[in-house]
Amino acid sequence: MDTEALDELAGQLRGEALGGRGLLQLATATGLAAYAVWAAVLMPGFRRVPLHLQVPYMPSSAQQVANVMALLRGRSGKTADLGSGDGRLVLEAHKQGLRPAVGYELNPWLLWLAKYRAWKAGCHEQVSFLKQDLWKANLSDCYNVTVFLAPSVKPPLAAKLLAELPDEARVVAGRFPFPSWTPSSTLGQGLEQAWAYDMKEVRRAARCGGTPGVTAAPRASPTGGLSPGEQ
Ligand SMILES: C[S@@+](CC[C@H](N)C(=O)[O-])C[C@H]1O[C@@H](n2cnc3c(N)ncnc32)[C@H](O)[C@@H]1O
Repeated sequence: MDTEALDELAGQLRGEALGGRGLLQLATATGLAAYAVWAAVLMPGFRRVPLHLQVPYMPSSAQQVANVMALLRGRSGKTADLGSGDGRLVLEAHKQGLRPAVGYELNPWLLWLAKYRAWKAGCHEQVSFLKQDLWKANLSDCYNVTVFLAPSVKPPLAAKLLAELPDEARVVAGRFPFPSWTPSSTLGQGLEQAWAYDMKEVRRAARCGGTPGVTAAPRASPTGGLSPGEQ
């Protein structure tokens, strides 16, 4: 058999090895490996969260953090970051005097990292990182809420915030605004932009019918008088 014939035979064998079933097995194995990495590293702890509500980790940029914090300047009271990642917004909120500062996160690697960063910053006893599904967290005592989550979850999140937050609360969204709410103020541009929403105004707009897709959930102030958020 000459070299040309051997090459042809080898080519046929290679084709056979990967053809049909082989290709299918390779594709399945690659898919399973990708899913295993996604489930184990990026989204562990999310088994009970419906797929359409799952948001992967992406940290806020330094400028984004600065813009979010500037929109909370001068405020006080309990502050929560919904999906706190490595804890950067919670730590910054604590530094700015927003206390208590709490982060809700499901990814155990990120929770560990956030707690380590708090320990390094010397404030691990003053801030909390809770392994809790943000959709199940009770936010009725939060006066400042920060949110850096995908646009697809903003409509159900808007409904949750409207139902639970006190009138005096301010919500600050980084990078993606709430599509059906009118912001009280905004800062930055492009990927660094942040929007502030005052719940009293959001509810007022909803009651006047000015904001489509929003159902107002009127609430009494839990504290009465001057609320922490407005001090
Ligand atoms: C885009 S990252 C933002 C991280 C951080 N807030 C920041 O600004 O750097 C969204 C985070 O939300 C977390 N997350 C997504 N869904 C969640 C849920 N249902 N409960 C708790 N955390 C969640 C993800 O693990 C991820 O760390």
